[in-house]
Amino acid sequence: MEYERAGSMLRHDVQGDGEPVLFVHGFPLSRELWAGVVPRLGPGWRAIAPDLRGHGESDVGPVTSMQTYAADLAALLDHLGESRPVVLVGLSMGGYVALELVRRQAERVRALVLANTRASRDSDEQADARRETARRVRAEGSGFVADDMARRLFHPEAPAELRTRWREIMAGTPPEGVAAALEAMAARPDSFDTLRAFDRPVLIVAGEADAITPVADAEAMQRAARNATLEVIEGAGHLTPVEQPERFAAVLRGFLGSLPATQPGGRDRS
Ligand code: MLT
Repeated sequence: MEYERAGSMLRHDVQGDGEPVLFVHGFPLSRELWAGVVPRLGPGWRAIAPDLRGHGESDVGPVTSMQTYAADLAALLDHLGESRPVVLVGLSMGGYVALELVRRQAERVRALVLANTRASRDSDEQADARRETARRVRAEGSGFVADDMARRLFHPEAPAELRTRWREIMAGTPPEGVAAALEAMAARPDSFDTLRAFDRPVLIVAGEADAITPVADAEAMQRAARNATLEVIEGAGHLTPVEQPERFAAVLRGFLGSLPATQPGGRDRS
């Protein structure tokens, strides 16, 4: 399915009927990230999984900040007629986007799942390195980023096919999409205050061998959030829903099942 925003066609999948769960993938990935999880959610959930602007099958279009991605998500929910607050699931850069949506429109978010991500901003050195990588991607293409990420995304014992498949997806992300995402990540603000202010349930998921967002980042978010549980998934690196889809889905199902019921108007019954 697709919708248009600010001159770009943005693609997404919608699966199931019930209460909305919005899945946001990381950098420079695609909605395929959730393919092993969505079918395992069970009945009662409407899973919405977009390709972020400049990723997967979505047009590149103008991206300048995390705000652009977050505004795309809000527009997608409007397009789908989804006025109920969603369970918002974001992995890595998808977590940065999720926190941006919470910062701007917390009322649209019923509960938050932050997987393999962090709430801190980049250091100045990290931000400079990302901007330099963005310059290189515009000149050389996405291949070298895909090679680098493919080496770091997975648990050391992950099957070679996983690395090959995801390298291919990342290398297929258009250079402008990769570069814009890098610049958006470099400019993102710290989100700890946003997390501290969010008073609804939060699930934090980490991979035991995540080389990109280590378990310590997850623990820091758990300490900051008011109402958070932390699950560390064994046998996984950075891509928990791909490396351990059954375990990820089981953890998510447990969290969804624990949420307070919502009233027809979308507000929690409490
Ligand atoms: C991601 O996986 O989305 C990114 O690698 C996150 C990051 O670089 O901070």
